[in-house]
Amino acid sequence: MSSPLSDMEIKTLVGTLRAALPKGQEAFPLHEPEFRGREWEYVKSCLDDGWVSSVGAFVDRFEQDLADKCGVKHAIATVNGTAALHAALMAIGVVANDEVFVPALTFVATANAVAHAGAVAHFVDCDTQRLGVDVPKLAEYLEEIAIRDGEGPHGPIYRNRNTGRVLRAVMPMHVFGVPMDIQPLVDLATQYGMVIVEDAAEALGSTYRRQPVGSFGAASALSFNGNKIITTGGGGAVLTNSEELAKRVRHLCTTAKRAHPWLYEHDCIGYNYRMPNINAALGCAQLEQLDTRIKLKKKLAGVYEKALEGFPGVQVLRAPDDSSSNHWLNAIVLRPGTSSEQRDQVLLALNEAGLSCRPVWNLMHTLPMFADNPRMDLSCAEGMAMRIINMPSSSYLAEVAHDA
Ligand SMILES: Cc1ncc(COP(=O)(O)O)c(C=O)c1O
Repeated sequence: MSSPLSDMEIKTLVGTLRAALPKGQEAFPLHEPEFRGREWEYVKSCLDDGWVSSVGAFVDRFEQDLADKCGVKHAIATVNGTAALHAALMAIGVVANDEVFVPALTFVATANAVAHAGAVAHFVDCDTQRLGVDVPKLAEYLEEIAIRDGEGPHGPIYRNRNTGRVLRAVMPMHVFGVPMDIQPLVDLATQYGMVIVEDAAEALGSTYRRQPVGSFGAASALSFNGNKIITTGGGGAVLTNSEELAKRVRHLCTTAKRAHPWLYEHDCIGYNYRMPNINAALGCAQLEQLDTRIKLKKKLAGVYEKALEGFPGVQVLRAPDDSSSNHWLNAIVLRPGTSSEQRDQVLLALNEAGLSCRPVWNLMHTLPMFADNPRMDLSCAEGMAMRIINMPSSSYLAEVAHDA
């Protein structure tokens, strides 16, 4: 169905979604941090022992637990997800003036990290089903703009024939926890000698073809910001299977200091990006709750799905059968052809009913600092941006919500 929602339908839609959520509660934040495990105990032990800064037993444990959970050999905990993306890009060899493909439909941190590395984000379109990079469309586009320029240590080197810049890397992002179709992207990137830095900030615990997301890129980044599925207050991590990359990331994130018991020797410009032990203590406790949280969030997605049964063409964003989402942030997708005015009408009505619903991020090429960046046709992202509404998604809502 592609007709826009009528005023009456909007009223009924909002009423139905509100009715699916707990009756006694008046306000429903978009996403709240939840501390129901051993957070107090672990943080207290940091304070008792005095290990509060960038090294400590909880950092080591959190890194090992993350690596195990994500099926990779190495995890390096960082101060936030943006720092993790930046460190990963530098470690894989992105240098000034390289071009890096970034989805137009992402949170600004993905594109910012490319700019922090001195490179240029080149914006690519998304598909309608998963909201991830549209790989067939990117493949067609590369045929048009990529020109081979010799062989590098890791495969062919391609340049953008319009800008002359090296096409160095691609950064898929798993939107709201829904895995993108990453295997065809891995194949395409290999063909063009590009490295994949996966932005898995939103997708801890999601899987694609039964493999954890975050384990497909040469390096990947997670975020543990307060709004994420687990939080360390602020925090992030770089994941990789490469020992060499892991060493480089750790070095860059630790002010590029050479290991020595007392000398201050730094061999390049580094960053103070390591996660403090006190945050890692929170992370260890939060990670213990991840599986339960994902189950609850899945249940909440089911509650929204049931509520929308009577609204043809309005759907909850779902991972296809080859994948499973961590359901970090539930999203409903309005009918094709929805205008920004209509979307805003729905958003206003939901917010007035106490549901802190949000539109998707402004697309990257519409932001002033990226307005002149190279881009392909972005018509799908532009259409989807008018249709997406994020719903209250805290996992505790699933325990008290009733099926509509
Ligand atoms: C897709 C994406 N990438 C990167 C980040 C950056 O993470 P952080 O806020 O921890 O820097 C976030 C979240 O904030 C995100 O949603």
